Amino acid sequence: MKTSSELSFASSGGLVIWLTGLSGAGKSTIANALNHELVKVGVSCFVLDGDDMRAGLNSDLGFSADDRQENVRRIAHVAKLVSSRGHTVVVAAITPSHAMRSIARSIVGETFREVFVDTPITICETRDPKGLYRRARSGTLKAFTGVSDLYERPDSPDLVLQTDALSIAEETGLLLELIGVEHETNAKASAPPLAPRAAGE
Ligand SMILES: Nc1ncnc2c1ncn2[C@@H]1O[C@H](COP(=O)(O)OP(=O)(O)OP(=O)(O)O)[C@@H](O)[C@H]1O
Ligand SMILES: [Mg+2]
Repeated sequence: MKTSSELSFASSGGLVIWLTGLSGAGKSTIANALNHELVKVGVSCFVLDGDDMRAGLNSDLGFSADDRQENVRRIAHVAKLVSSRGHTVVVAAITPSHAMRSIARSIVGETFREVFVDTPITICETRDPKGLYRRARSGTLKAFTGVSDLYERPDSPDLVLQTDALSIAEETGLLLELIGVEHETNAKASAPPLAPRAAGE
């Protein structure tokens, strides 16, 4: 098992693993599971969750296109700062558009890794961990991504996690491989062949 000092990126800064996907797709769940595994093998990790950012640093922002973009810009700068000190940063934020992900990538630079948490909206809506889909469908929550606001599926992410086909342990295993950390075989999985999904699925 590699330690943090053996990882090639450790001296030049950690990677920024940017989890994008619909609300309820599993971004926060996966970010926390990955954090747990990285800490276990001695890799310093920091989770930047969109909800936490909106509760504090970004509490002045709403959900207009401009505000969403500003939200992403600030998260990306914090991610870059933290990762430049050698920590692996895991961002969990919807980041709905190509343009926003491109801004994040350009701010973070070459350590940016885009991970698409690809969960069909029907499943996100069934999970509805915060009751947001229910509110969006009833019209009490406006500009909700996937219902009344657009989510643009990433064109060429570094990794796709289809959470309807993988367990959380398998998803974590694939992320550890992306980061370059060897891990226990029982959590290993191969990325399933990707069947293209229709837009909005
Ligand atoms: N394979 C899986 N991977 C990730 N989450 C899963 C999986 N199977 C079921 N879940 C469940 O899906 C839910 C995902 O909720 P989570 O809060 O992580 O979503 P999110 O993408 O962070 O949403 P939001 O953008 O609203 O913060 C959790 O209740 C989690 O337990
Ligand atoms: Mg979340």
